[in-house]
Amino acid sequence: MKKIIVIGAGGQIGSELVPFLRNIYGSANVVAADLDIKKCARLGEDGPLEELNALDKNRFIEVVRKYKSDTIFNMVALLSATGEKNPELAWDINIGALTNSLNIGRDNGCAVFTPSSIGAFGVDTPKDHTPQDTLQRANTTIYGVCKVTGELLSDYYFHRFGMDTRSVRFPGLISYVTLPGGGTTDYAVDIYYEAVRKGAFTCNIKAGTYMDMMYMPDALNAVVKLMEADPAKLVHRNSFNIASMSFEPEQIAAEIRKHLPDFKMAYDVDPVKQAIADSWPNSMDDSCARMEWGWIPAYNLETMTTDMLAKVKEKLNND
Ligand code: SER
Repeated sequence: MKKIIVIGAGGQIGSELVPFLRNIYGSANVVAADLDIKKCARLGEDGPLEELNALDKNRFIEVVRKYKSDTIFNMVALLSATGEKNPELAWDINIGALTNSLNIGRDNGCAVFTPSSIGAFGVDTPKDHTPQDTLQRANTTIYGVCKVTGELLSDYYFHRFGMDTRSVRFPGLISYVTLPGGGTTDYAVDIYYEAVRKGAFTCNIKAGTYMDMMYMPDALNAVVKLMEADPAKLVHRNSFNIASMSFEPEQIAAEIRKHLPDFKMAYDVDPVKQAIADSWPNSMDDSCARMEWGWIPAYNLETMTTDMLAKVKEKLNND
């Protein structure tokens, strides 16, 4: 991995993945590409930034060839709740970006990383310690259907064309740089902003609903560690369970109260998001990632909360 392109660079993950990769591989070697380069103009300050609609195959090929990319990070996706508002659009965007990344990657000698998610599991999946290889049939979101398709297709390109495709199943990602857009796990980001702003939060997910979550620094480390892993050691490829913490709304609220004792939480449950959350695992078993490429997270709910509250406070003070 020497010449990298990140598509969907302006999104929640891309906007942090680009600087993270630039620190390791050098700014000139990491191209940020996004449909809307105005929204991520700061990524153009210290490295290449290209306007790219990932569904525009010719433009995608042009950018990959211009920079002689050897690795594509496909971070383009509509998330789970947004996807349910317009399933056709979600399929077109999520699968369009996937197939273009795979075909262009194959034809230009690139490795391809496309994230999967806890959303790749469904109502028939074992909920606790969800195994690496398990049932994924009863998926109830178009987002999840796209993620399962991504896993299958990426493995197919590996077996059929010998392409270096790799992926992780991300938990809900918590970060303070760019907000996630329209995910079921977004409450676990919003709660920190509202705690700092108002000292109160209305949660759209029911108390007692457990989901896997992860702090962005761990997610970024996972991506690089997997992409740099010795391929001979990879039994799996698309896609590895990775986990660091699983909690329900009352637990994150209690953790916030250790810093802001007056913090109050109420509930106004969103039935669409709740049904999605109920179909996803309570906690994934990530032992294959630990064994095959040495995955190990650094943050838990306590350390993440301390850092998130400090960073969100700083961010809101500077706004
Ligand atoms: N965070 C995503 C969502 O909630 C799941 O991967 O849609």
